[in-house]
Amino acid sequence: MASCMGKGRYGVCFLAVDPHGKKVILKKFRRRMWKKNMANNYHESVILSGLAHEQIPQLLGVIRERKQYYFVLEYKEGDTLKDWLFEKNKIFNRTEIYRIGIQLFDILKYLRSRSVVHGDISIANVIDDGEHISLIDFGLARYAGDEDDFWLDYARAADVLLYLLYSGYPGKGKRPWYEELPLSSEQREFLRGLIEAGRSENGDFGEKKRQVENNITNIKKQFQEYFEKDCS
Ligand SMILES: Nc1ncnc2c1ncn2[C@@H]1O[C@H](COP(=O)(O)OP(=O)(O)O)[C@@H](O)[C@H]1O
Ligand SMILES: [Mg+2]
Repeated sequence: MASCMGKGRYGVCFLAVDPHGKKVILKKFRRRMWKKNMANNYHESVILSGLAHEQIPQLLGVIRERKQYYFVLEYKEGDTLKDWLFEKNKIFNRTEIYRIGIQLFDILKYLRSRSVVHGDISIANVIDDGEHISLIDFGLARYAGDEDDFWLDYARAADVLLYLLYSGYPGKGKRPWYEELPLSSEQREFLRGLIEAGRSENGDFGEKKRQVENNITNIKKQFQEYFEKDCS
């Protein structure tokens, strides 16, 4: 078969080649996890088969072999943002951060339209080829119960942006990011609003959400307005 791409909570991913010579990902599940997940209607395969987006891997099939289950997923070129940052020590400039942010909010807009919460947005689950990002790993995805559910993803998207912003900044972690990172006040309040709105459970998050306006279209617009200026 092929090379191991990493071990996670639910199993292992392999890079393989299909009969036509095309790269695919085989995601193998531990049987116990498969059964446990199958009981829920938000199984990764169910969610993925309802999605069609250039920047989300397509589910190509499910294989059962010797009591093992595998997903066959479309292979997305590039490296995870985590590898770019921590293996390759890449410094993301503001133009690149803007590109990645816009694309990420675009994908979230699409997921919102399909009522899907990804549930695990992180630098490990975003692949970038230098031009396009892809959002992978729908292992914790589910259908949204209500509007508030989506805020988890928005907050985690802001976290991803913070990681990228920190890559270009030497004095890491002595003070909170909103004091340390060189951001305009609009940029800072925008990111803070997303992060705080996503974190608060039942408390005062209504107000925070209003600050960033309660929908993904506006979030994307605001990101565009506040971060486009940085691009050179
Ligand atoms: N569609 C894909 N295209 C390219 N690489 C992938 C794809 N899916 C997974 N990978 C690689 O395999 C790793 C683990 O896959 P992931 O779906 O995130 O599972 P988990 O985090 O549960 O182990 C990813 O970090 C990535 O490097
Ligand atoms: Mg993952």
